[in-house]
Amino acid sequence: MAVNVGIIGSGLIARLAHAPGYQKAGANIVATADLVEDRAKQLAEDFSIAHTYTDYRELLARPDIEAVSICVPNYMHKEITIAALEAGKHVLCEKPMAMTVEEATAMLHASEKTGKILMLGFNNRFRSDVQRLKKVIDSGELGDIYYVKTGYIRRRGTPFGWFTVKEESGGGPVIDLGVHVIDMTRYLMGNPKPVSVMASTYRKFGHYTLMDTDAWCSSDVKEGLRTGEQFDVEDLATAMIRFDNGATMVVEASWASNIGERDSVYASLLGEKAGAQLTPELTVFSEQDGMLTDKKINTVNRNAHAEEIKHFVNCVKEGTTPISTARHGVEIQQILNAIYESAKLGRSVDIQSI
Ligand SMILES: NC(=O)c1ccc[n+]([C@@H]2O[C@H](COP(=O)([O-])OP(=O)(O)OC[C@H]3O[C@@H](n4cnc5c(N)ncnc54)[C@H](O)[C@@H]3O)[C@@H](O)[C@H]2O)c1
Repeated sequence: MAVNVGIIGSGLIARLAHAPGYQKAGANIVATADLVEDRAKQLAEDFSIAHTYTDYRELLARPDIEAVSICVPNYMHKEITIAALEAGKHVLCEKPMAMTVEEATAMLHASEKTGKILMLGFNNRFRSDVQRLKKVIDSGELGDIYYVKTGYIRRRGTPFGWFTVKEESGGGPVIDLGVHVIDMTRYLMGNPKPVSVMASTYRKFGHYTLMDTDAWCSSDVKEGLRTGEQFDVEDLATAMIRFDNGATMVVEASWASNIGERDSVYASLLGEKAGAQLTPELTVFSEQDGMLTDKKINTVNRNAHAEEIKHFVNCVKEGTTPISTARHGVEIQQILNAIYESAKLGRSVDIQSI
């Protein structure tokens, strides 16, 4: 039997990832809801979705819907996720989990209380190279991983709109891009618990216009309903995160910076027996018979969003726990908010275990 799902928020990520992902996974998309009626109707038309709503509560009131995707701006994640769980739906919530640790913790508690799945949309875990490297790491080939260097940095790629307004997003590239690589590498490390963070954030660009960017921006800006000039978040951050197993992660995230590449996502993981890098291609660095070796591992080009959604649909069908849980979401939220706190205070901040 196909799983019946709903999509709340009919904007860009719903259109590019969730609607096609559910179709590919064989789920039945029963309804979509968006404050902007035409957007919901257009998504419905393009993906043969029978019902549209402007009030997400009406979608949640449908008894035939078993699971929903939350594809709304970050400031609405907590309210809609909790309402969906309490309405008896399993939830796939887009990243970041929320804007604050308090919000994320309330969402975790709602999933525990209702017994419904709350999976986080950490799509980078589902990349082919990440899944293969995870296998290599789980086999013990790298040994204990003690140092990770990662980043998600852009030359000019600020997603103007609600993304650049703190009240609606919770923060800038830390919460939009850093979240991806922090989660992806912590997952590869075996999800150690964060214990402290030392970070700096900068705002050097703010709003700008360029002749040749086609950057991601909110649907409201894309459709000319909002100017996108409001900007009160950072546009670059750098942080050092310590974990309870003694490992350290150094991470950078930017929407705008004067670098040579257009868009760069990288990760390098150092283990006591071997190291690995994801870019430009998955490679394991070690030593054999007194010689240094570089082992390249073939990867396939697969859509990480589609894999993430297939995994969610399977978890709903089988009643299994997803690989990216609500608890992971809260721990990542602790790191994100500690980065802002550390940058504000100008010193290292501690993180208490949940
Ligand atoms: N995983 C990824 O790679 C990825 C990429 C982009 C965005 N995202 C996340 O997806 C979420 C949405 O981002 P987007 O780029 O699609 O933004 P968007 O602005 O294009 O779309 C958001 C939609 O939500 C609607 N909305 C707002 N409040 C609502 C409400 N109360 N009820 C119903 N609809 C409401 C808006 O009208 C809009 O159509 C964000 O949390 C973002 O961080 C994830």
